[in-house]
Amino acid sequence: MCGITGFTGSQPALPFLLQGLSRLEYRGYDSAGITLVNGKALRTWKTKGRLAQLEELLSKDLAESCGIGHTRWATHGVPSNMNAHPHMNEEETISVVHNGIVENYAELKEELMENGYVFHSETDSEVIVQLLDYYYNEKPVMKEALLKTVKRLTGSYAVCVTTIFEPDTIYVAKKESPMVLGQSPEGTFCASDAPALLEYTREIYPMQDGQIAILNADRIDLFDLKGKRQELKWIHFPYDIQSAQKGGYDSYMMKEIHEQPSAIRETLRGRFHGNKTVMPVIDQLDADWDSITNTYFIACGTAYHACIYAEILYRRYTGKMSSVIPASEFRYSNPSLNEHTLCIFVSQSGETADTLAALRLAKSKGCITISVVNVLGSSISRQTDAVLYTAAGPEIAVASTKAYTTQLVLLHVLVLKLAELYGIRVRGISRLIRDLRHLPEITEEVLAKEPQMKELAKMLKDQKDAYFIGRQLDYPTALEGALKLKEISYVHADAYYAGELKHGPIALIEENTVVTAMATQPEIAAKTISNIKETVARGARVILITDPFMSAQEFEYVVRIPDISPELAAVPCAVLLQLFAYYGAMEKGCDIDKPRNLAKSVTVE
Ligand code: F6R
Repeated sequence: MCGITGFTGSQPALPFLLQGLSRLEYRGYDSAGITLVNGKALRTWKTKGRLAQLEELLSKDLAESCGIGHTRWATHGVPSNMNAHPHMNEEETISVVHNGIVENYAELKEELMENGYVFHSETDSEVIVQLLDYYYNEKPVMKEALLKTVKRLTGSYAVCVTTIFEPDTIYVAKKESPMVLGQSPEGTFCASDAPALLEYTREIYPMQDGQIAILNADRIDLFDLKGKRQELKWIHFPYDIQSAQKGGYDSYMMKEIHEQPSAIRETLRGRFHGNKTVMPVIDQLDADWDSITNTYFIACGTAYHACIYAEILYRRYTGKMSSVIPASEFRYSNPSLNEHTLCIFVSQSGETADTLAALRLAKSKGCITISVVNVLGSSISRQTDAVLYTAAGPEIAVASTKAYTTQLVLLHVLVLKLAELYGIRVRGISRLIRDLRHLPEITEEVLAKEPQMKELAKMLKDQKDAYFIGRQLDYPTALEGALKLKEISYVHADAYYAGELKHGPIALIEENTVVTAMATQPEIAAKTISNIKETVARGARVILITDPFMSAQEFEYVVRIPDISPELAAVPCAVLLQLFAYYGAMEKGCDIDKPRNLAKSVTVE
């Protein structure tokens, strides 16, 4: 979720570049950099850390009127000065900033190295500047070099280029990563998001996938990938800076809920080849997979719920047993740990103290350790034998949403990978992979049910308690739904296995108690339905979340998820429950992004 700014005009570029980057800080970053073009040379400053550290490197009198800026949220290569953008070619004649993921960067890098190119960073982005250099040397026309370069990239990109060959021009290209353009009497601008431009102009143009733009001081030219000119239609941007940073939503949580289709798409990017999973870091582990005797899934809070989901899948797909233990309990549970133990740690922040402590114990006993982490270069990611990154981007709201659903999908692929490594063929693998690939669209579809969830959440207005029930793969969803609700609305919420109700919790059900029930697992759905009826008989108001086919005439409040493999129903259900919790909290007038007593990253045990 990097931030990009670019300016060319009649005024110094630096003030715009820096204020623009600070307006994009909400996107999260771990390093920052700029390039200014002074006619004869490109001058680049970059550093790990905050914008303030970058500003310390800059002298006050930088009057260059063309430049590009970047804040980097690390995806390939740890946060460092070297990995920070901009990246330049060897002769320092071309400078590039990039947001997105170049999936085929390893192949491109190899090809370029065979042609004598030397790489200085661990980033995927550096291949872009080297490719540009390669094509520009073939034929010195930058527009053509850019078109040839972006056609070689698979994955996502928003790219911004400056060059001494055209010192007043900025080249921009976009596919699946955001980029907006703007113009004012002082010059022309580009940025990853509108807040960077709003002090200068409210007329903006959000670039479309497959477009390139050429920015000069007094005009912007727009083209498609064939080089054919396109029309630039300005739109008036209606939000103020603060709501623009939240993408026009009322809160970061709502913005992050809506980012899930793209977060899932990015997390799954490049993870399949036909019916096989692609996880080179797992293939490269020095492990004798046949000798694994114990497997543990370890995490806290929401990430722990993702682990419960993974544990059920692991048993289902591999036929092997594993344990799921909250990280805060792990060290005191006498786990059986040795070199035949596989420990899988899941964490959004990668800094949770309990999870780190459990990891250190596992490492001290020689276990094989894998982590599923969102923040690149975080402590957990650095200390495990192999790390898999969710590509949720920065999660700012305290209540986890997009980190959870991306954990579900990445753990799903990991479990399929482990089954492959154990030599086990998972039944229905092609259907599963087809549906995994389809999850971003499924998530879009389910987000369209927001008005229905908002209406249903009105039931929570005067409630002190709420219950969530489900069986099998619906159970972690119930746990996560209850956690979301209690975190942000302070309604006491509990989750139970639906079949366990009659063994105690049903005593809590009275007239008008709100029960949210998931019935998405066909082999057990009929039994879940009878469990639900037991609560209806005691006066509960039941919201039933189920697949498109389940007969549910006897229920008043039914929400249907799209048709998808039951093993993946947890994703659309989680999205519905996030919306339910969100609007429940709105009913109660709570501060949604900053719930009381909670911190985003829990770095104490
Ligand atoms: C709940 C939530 C927490 C975290 C937990 C672990 O919405 O965000 O329960 O899931 O504190 O944090 P990470 O994943 O950073 O290890």
